[in-house]
Amino acid sequence: MLSKRIRVLGIETSCDETAAAVVEAGRTVLSNIVASSLKEHAKYGGIIPEIASRRQIELIQGVVGEALKQAGTTLDDISAVAVTQSPGLIGSLLVGISYAKALAFAAKKPLMDVNHIHAHLYANFLTLPGKPNTPGPDLPAVGLVVSGGHSSLFYIKDFRHFEQLGQTRDDAAGEAFDKVARILNLGYPGGPVIDRLAKKGTPGQISFPAAELPGCLDFSFSGTKTAVLYYTRKNQGQIGFSLENVACAFQDSVISVLVKKSLAACRKKKCGTLIVGGGVAANSGLRDQLATAAAREGLRVHVPPMGLCLDNAAMVAGMGHHLFKRKSLKKGAGRE
Ligand code: KG4
Ligand code: ZN
Repeated sequence: MLSKRIRVLGIETSCDETAAAVVEAGRTVLSNIVASSLKEHAKYGGIIPEIASRRQIELIQGVVGEALKQAGTTLDDISAVAVTQSPGLIGSLLVGISYAKALAFAAKKPLMDVNHIHAHLYANFLTLPGKPNTPGPDLPAVGLVVSGGHSSLFYIKDFRHFEQLGQTRDDAAGEAFDKVARILNLGYPGGPVIDRLAKKGTPGQISFPAAELPGCLDFSFSGTKTAVLYYTRKNQGQIGFSLENVACAFQDSVISVLVKKSLAACRKKKCGTLIVGGGVAANSGLRDQLATAAAREGLRVHVPPMGLCLDNAAMVAGMGHHLFKRKSLKKGAGRE
């Protein structure tokens, strides 16, 4: 099988990360380097695009070199270069795309443009070094992407067809975690710290409304965030105010709607497989509740390994593998 030997170099610079990875056969992660400028943004409470892209210009060459080195490969052995083409911060995307274009041109390799959101879902098909190769999820599947910039539901027939079933009407799920963390003075990014605090909270002590938006598969999280703001303004500093309980109630509210809508999407499409991707897929409460729902509803639910939930280039290389194979087959050059 020719595709077994295909190695794709992936490059990802859509937000604050500068990432490069080599993936073999669209499955096996040979290297996965992520350099983040997150610390430089933390004091501003969010990503500053100008800081992100300037750091990416400085980092990209070293990160790509390290990805090739750790994969024990050279550019000669790479079949294609894949790069995140959208969506993302325009200056940051430009750094990755310009670098990838120049590299592909100089090395005479094909260049694959990858959609960042679709790539998040592809993380479910990857195997990290040292881990056993498990069979990837079955397609068709329903895909839930929950990141700092997006909350979307898709029906994925195959790697070419992503039908959007729903999306957020305001804040993305991760954005809501970040904004609530800001209200509670917990720093940036908010997801991991709220996740930790929520585990120590007592469920049911407080409740924040979740927007159900009946009859559609869209999301809305800004009402929940505003409810946290008003509750905090009223109660912070009073006896009985508990950050842990606020985190727990907020997280439960977001998760309950994510799980409900995902199950509704599976029912609508009569689909028994759900795959999840994006930074919020790292949330322990979401992972637990999805596992419970899967057992109850007889669904197969896949979440990426923890190391591949947040932005990375392995997911870009993996998705690039399929684009490359398709292009090769079209040209009559590729065989499986
Ligand atoms: O996918 P990602 O790395 O970047 C985008 O494409 O946006 O996601 C980053 C988002 C941030 O909003 C962060 O707060 C959230 O993922 N996040 C989490 C957790 N870890 C990261 N949200 C909830 N629980 C977590 N454990
Ligand atoms: Zn992302």
